[in-house]
Amino acid sequence: MMFQSRRFLKYRLLAPGPVQLHPKVQEALALPMIHHRTPEFEAILERTLGKLSICFQTREQVMCLAAAGSGAMESALVNTLSPGDEILAIVSGKFGERWAKMAQVFGMKVHALHVPWGEAVQVEAISDALKRNGKIKALITQACETSTATEHPIYEISQFLKASYPEVLFMVDAITAIGAMNLPVDEWGLDVVVSGSQKAFMLPAGLSFVSLSQKAWAAEATARCPRYYFNLSQERDANAKKQTYFSSAVTHIRALDVALDDLVGISLQNTIRRTRLMAKTTREAMVTLGLAIYSKSPAGAVTAIELPKNAPGEQLRDHLEKEYRVTVMGGQDQLKGRILRMGHLGYIPTDDFCAGIEAIGLGAMDLKVIPEDHRLIEQVSEMARSRLESTNA
Ligand SMILES: Cc1ncc(COP(=O)(O)O)c(C=O)c1O
Repeated sequence: MMFQSRRFLKYRLLAPGPVQLHPKVQEALALPMIHHRTPEFEAILERTLGKLSICFQTREQVMCLAAAGSGAMESALVNTLSPGDEILAIVSGKFGERWAKMAQVFGMKVHALHVPWGEAVQVEAISDALKRNGKIKALITQACETSTATEHPIYEISQFLKASYPEVLFMVDAITAIGAMNLPVDEWGLDVVVSGSQKAFMLPAGLSFVSLSQKAWAAEATARCPRYYFNLSQERDANAKKQTYFSSAVTHIRALDVALDDLVGISLQNTIRRTRLMAKTTREAMVTLGLAIYSKSPAGAVTAIELPKNAPGEQLRDHLEKEYRVTVMGGQDQLKGRILRMGHLGYIPTDDFCAGIEAIGLGAMDLKVIPEDHRLIEQVSEMARSRLESTNA
């Protein structure tokens, strides 16, 4: 017990966002303030935006907004669409619901393609919906629906649209997908892609990112939604002058500059590989402990651990935080109390990952969700450590 309590003295944030900050990010956040109209900041902004494009695997400019991820989602809609436009929205969880609602607020006619929670959308279902309605201008979807820890087949959808509906704008909420899924934006023809700083970028919440393809920029030229703060052509023009449209989030952008060194080129692929390895290892560890995995298309960014019926799910989440100082998230709506969501994004040293696995196992034993067996906890923790250490990713 003494050993255990020492092991869990350190606080560990293993939510699917916000995430643990990279130590270099913490250092950057603590630097004295500089003005954004200085050659020093202009150089930082220019190189950071360059790295952001590499991270998105696009030759296009990626705009960096001072806003939560939902701001980038809103910017995607209002800059490319007009009131009355018909769109097809994949709704397979809370974030799909949010984007569809947002589009309704801006006057778009939203056709929701409901997918059972925990399942990936089928390309055939998209094909049927597009056949039924020839006026669909855009398809909006999450790449990873964080509320159910489920990935959608973005590559397959992109190939289908390219072949059969090249005029439809393909808009992807990749807020928890960048760093966890390979999403080569240009190669796959993803027209609008959004992400957020408090996920794989190892930063606090506060910045969000949006890329537009040439097709999306052409749509932007005729889009009639009202917009003021989220005006992407103004943002792009300001960026060309090494400025942001409004006051720059200097502190966050400086931190992003260092974080992006881990998320470009080979480092991005290594991050994706390690993130997916953590997800796979978590799934195996949980099954070994006697727990189940909720999603039928499990994500790399986050794992939803399904608890047995009648297990005190909310109490268990609180118990992990109080007794083991580990924050994971519970479920929302129909999943309230039924799942725990462990995030694999952000700065997660191997020891923090193993401690998270141990804490979930120990907490589940404390609350009699699974039978007590401390040897089993040691076993899954050792398995997790050897898996992560045996990869040089
Ligand atoms: C897939 C997805 N979309 C959208 C959001 C909303 O992002 P934010 O809370 O930064 O507005 C989140 C946040 O967790 C998310 O995971």
